[in-house]
Amino acid sequence: MVLVCGGAGYIGSHAVYQLINKGEDVVVVDNLETGHIEAVHPKAKFYKVDIRNEEELDKVFKENNITEVIHFAANSLVGESMTNPLKYYNNNVHGTEVLLKVMIDNDVKRIVFSSTAATYGEATKMPIVETDKTEPTNAYGETKLAMEKMMKWADIAHNMKYVSLRYFNVAGAHVSGTIGEDHSPETHLIPLILQVPLGKREFISIFGEDYDTEDGTCIRDYIHVVDLANAHIKAIEYLRKEDNSNIFNLGNGNGFSVKEMIVAARKVTGHEIPAKICERRAGDPARLIASAEKAREILKWEPEFTNVEDIIASAWNWHKNNPKGFNK
Ligand code: UFG
Repeated sequence: MVLVCGGAGYIGSHAVYQLINKGEDVVVVDNLETGHIEAVHPKAKFYKVDIRNEEELDKVFKENNITEVIHFAANSLVGESMTNPLKYYNNNVHGTEVLLKVMIDNDVKRIVFSSTAATYGEATKMPIVETDKTEPTNAYGETKLAMEKMMKWADIAHNMKYVSLRYFNVAGAHVSGTIGEDHSPETHLIPLILQVPLGKREFISIFGEDYDTEDGTCIRDYIHVVDLANAHIKAIEYLRKEDNSNIFNLGNGNGFSVKEMIVAARKVTGHEIPAKICERRAGDPARLIASAEKAREILKWEPEFTNVEDIIASAWNWHKNNPKGFNK
């Protein structure tokens, strides 16, 4: 049985759907601070538990035959992490400390971890490979790196095998149409662009046009949430077979600028989507592109959504049919 911590969140809920489609038994733990109960697959066993609550978390392990853990339970807003870093250290770092302790106490020694491109900070060469230096430029990335390091030392001391997956820009929604992205506040580019054709926003703000890129706007590597979810299943299979710890980037390896994303969204939605140039947003690196060669080679992971318009269309399908998200 696989325990998914944070299985009611955007990426976690998609991973649960893919695990269940694969025939795995799944138990979800989520404190529902940012997750949605409606996003939890009906076949998953659900516990409203905060991972920092050692006693309650231990009970979940005692009541279920857990063999692996996938850990998504964390705060993930870069901006908020800069104004309230201690919240990130408490929920992300301390939360992982409690989780690892309970895992060790219950002799569960395999974990797949939700990490981020933010661990690299301002990279000097593209595409980014896993061995590049990790110097986060925000507290969010710093806590994710601390969580990775905690697993490394837990491996050395307790044989805790971990796979850390460093995601680039995640987007899109499940093909079933039942789950998708629903953050409050929303800070991500694609859902914000799509709020314009939904009539929720008059224009999209472009945060800076003076970056050192072809059109002056920031370049990112967008990856579909279902491709990402599938990588977690590959990582579980890897841990079961290889019993080895490892770190992998997950992205498509192609960069798209903010302006290119707006043009693609216009094409997908048929809406003119007005845009306005605004000030830069603090802490945004100009360019983030992944090399996911290692994941392709070792995990045999192959993303299916390689076209950015298909990724936007998938997000559009969700937002159009669920303009209020899970809040029906
Ligand atoms: N952007 C705009 N206008 C908006 C929103 C975003 O121009 O209204 C720009 C941003 O400045 C950035 C790009 O669109 O250049 C993408 O922004 P997102 O907020 O969608 O994504 P980020 O690249 O900032 O963040 C992602 C993940 C984080 C992770 C980070 C790694 O969402 O969790 O990559 O740097 F930490």
